[in-house]
Amino acid sequence: MSPEEAPKHQRRPRYRGTHPRRFEEKYKELNPALHAETVQKVIASGKTPAGAHRPIMVREIIEFLAPQAGDLAVDCTLGYGGHTAEILPLLRPGGRLLGLDADPIELARTTERLRARGFGEDVLGVCHSNFAGLPKVLAGQNIAGADLILADLGCSSMQLDNPARGFSFKSDGPLDLRMNPQRGAPASALLARLDAPRLQAILEANADEPHAGELARAIVAAQRRKPIVTTLHLADLVRAALWQAGHALDRDAVAAVARRVFQALRIEVNDEFSALETFLRFLPHCLEPGGRVAVLTFHSGEDRRVKQAFEAAAAAGQFAPLEHDFLRPSSEEIYANPRASSAKLRVARRRAQIEQETT
Ligand SMILES: C[S@@+](CC[C@H](N)C(=O)[O-])C[C@H]1O[C@@H](n2cnc3c(N)ncnc32)[C@H](O)[C@@H]1O
Repeated sequence: MSPEEAPKHQRRPRYRGTHPRRFEEKYKELNPALHAETVQKVIASGKTPAGAHRPIMVREIIEFLAPQAGDLAVDCTLGYGGHTAEILPLLRPGGRLLGLDADPIELARTTERLRARGFGEDVLGVCHSNFAGLPKVLAGQNIAGADLILADLGCSSMQLDNPARGFSFKSDGPLDLRMNPQRGAPASALLARLDAPRLQAILEANADEPHAGELARAIVAAQRRKPIVTTLHLADLVRAALWQAGHALDRDAVAAVARRVFQALRIEVNDEFSALETFLRFLPHCLEPGGRVAVLTFHSGEDRRVKQAFEAAAAAGQFAPLEHDFLRPSSEEIYANPRASSAKLRVARRRAQIEQETT
């Protein structure tokens, strides 16, 4: 390459003052075209570049789902399109992937990104839908069943990293936590109507929180004094409640409790467990005979539901006997991407004939 052809080095924009004030400034890698070098540095340090998501257990998922030319695939949780981008080329020629996501904001961005990578309407269909509605989505497209289905549960790094979505307490933002901000009410509205026993039950059921009682009482009392409408306000209250109760927890342990509180509220706000249960109930009927399904879970509430549903479907003759209990990411993957550390992969195969119908 001649010096004239070499891409010109672009200086990173400088912040005014000594510290970045805005999210866009703080996370320089948000514009990957401008900051490819920053993105590589972030990945090498074991972090995920802001505004992106690194797909988890790709090799294991592809190995099990075994996408073939001509197959019809469904990615129920399109997210950043990380898994989809690996599966799509294997479906050519003649195959197609349908990507669903409940999040209209990231779905639009991902669609644009995947189209720009050459995945046109002929190979990639996208649908703004909750995966609980999968049978309806398939029927609407005259699809009798899919050859492979993937669901990668929970929220994406883009949702976590965007303070405006209120998924984390890394930066301050509105306490929202909705995957689809056009539907339902934000977490702040949920907190405003909960009493302590109900909040305690949510923290226990959705996050196995051992300090649920103390936290619930402190949060509800604080909410009565001043409505909790921002992420940092809630995180501060969690920390103060733990100290007041006399727990000698270090910084990491306190952050882990706050993460569980956010997870519990997120699951409640998005009605995640009932969506998962509905999806699992209809799943065998959404697969072609011999079709494969892979589900990535990130905590016990999700994993227990997937395990029970797969075992029940195998016992009912809908799924072939399960070949694996669950698979875990390799140590290398967890080292390279700490967000993979709690992942469990469960896989199943539909029998050639569903032997016994369950309703
Ligand atoms: C972990 S991310 C998926 C990442 C994706 N596999 C990738 O590699 O880019 C989970 C995605 O599922 C979506 N989601 C969560 N629950 C959903 C549901 N019930 N129906 C549809 N999408 C859902 C979230 O909005 C998020 O985009």
